[in-house]
Amino acid sequence: MSVPIGHPVTKAVIPVAGLGTRFLPATKALPKEMLPVVDTPAIQYVVHEAVEAGLQDVLLVTGRNKNALENHFDRATELEQMLEAKGDTEKLSRVRFSTDLADIHYTRQGDPKGLGHAVLRAKRHVGRVPFAVLLGDDIIDERDILLARMLEVQRERNTTVVALLEVPYSQIHLYGAAAVEGTDEEDVVRITGLVEKPDAAEAPSNYAIIGRYVLRPEIFDILEHTRPGKGGEIQLTDALQELAVGPEENGKVYGVIFRGRRYDTGDRLDYLKSIVRIAVDREDLGPEFRTWLREFAAELPERLVAADALPVPSTGSIPSPVSK
Ligand code: G1P
Repeated sequence: MSVPIGHPVTKAVIPVAGLGTRFLPATKALPKEMLPVVDTPAIQYVVHEAVEAGLQDVLLVTGRNKNALENHFDRATELEQMLEAKGDTEKLSRVRFSTDLADIHYTRQGDPKGLGHAVLRAKRHVGRVPFAVLLGDDIIDERDILLARMLEVQRERNTTVVALLEVPYSQIHLYGAAAVEGTDEEDVVRITGLVEKPDAAEAPSNYAIIGRYVLRPEIFDILEHTRPGKGGEIQLTDALQELAVGPEENGKVYGVIFRGRRYDTGDRLDYLKSIVRIAVDREDLGPEFRTWLREFAAELPERLVAADALPVPSTGSIPSPVSK
């Protein structure tokens, strides 16, 4: 069931059914993908990236309590009318940007049985052609090329391509890790094995899979019978491992090594860092924010001494800030 060489990829699948428990209580009623990175929901960066790489057809694999996502990519008639009446074209274009961005489709995951299961839910929509998967926790800086390069490698080699990032061994247990061999292209490796979230001692390398994949439809056939793996979930990494060691006709697995700017919004500390890193580069907010940040960082040692000197509150109450 091989795919014709060079079939252009037009579809992107974005799994968004996760519960986002790391961000409670914010995610009690709000999908984690709607958390703002500066003033834009995380999901909008990811959909934008897909569109910029030429993938206009986007399938969001959603779950319960994800209605805000659908609303975000839909028209907001009342709001638009109000802004139109005011003649606020700048805000109007910000509101309309997400509506006009892509041709967005939705399917529900039902039971949250893991990333592999979410991708399998895209089978009917995708059909028998290659497609991309983008995970919402990773934002790739729009000035750095990743997905377009992966699509190029997919086209040239008619194969499965994942994005790899070198991480410290101390962090590899947070990712799928790949055993790799060099190729004739400096940024492309052949993947000979994959392990989902290994301990550092057992990791085949410190090449971590980051949330970008270009897959061939054979992955669906494999996911149909992939057993639950790490964490009791159906893991995409396990299905890719089967491809990597499986028959040549299903295509091999390659990795594109990414060396650009990636923002991880999946955990609280990294989310904070992402906002700061993106905000300092923004044309509108950047200049003022940079000035403030420099001053704030310079004052930081004094603030820490002052904070240490504060009496420890006896209850769970939040101490009021020392100064603004
Ligand atoms: C998922 C994948 C993992 C990959 C990671 C990238 O894990 O299972 O292989 O390295 O995304 O962000 P998650 O972060 O959803 O637990």
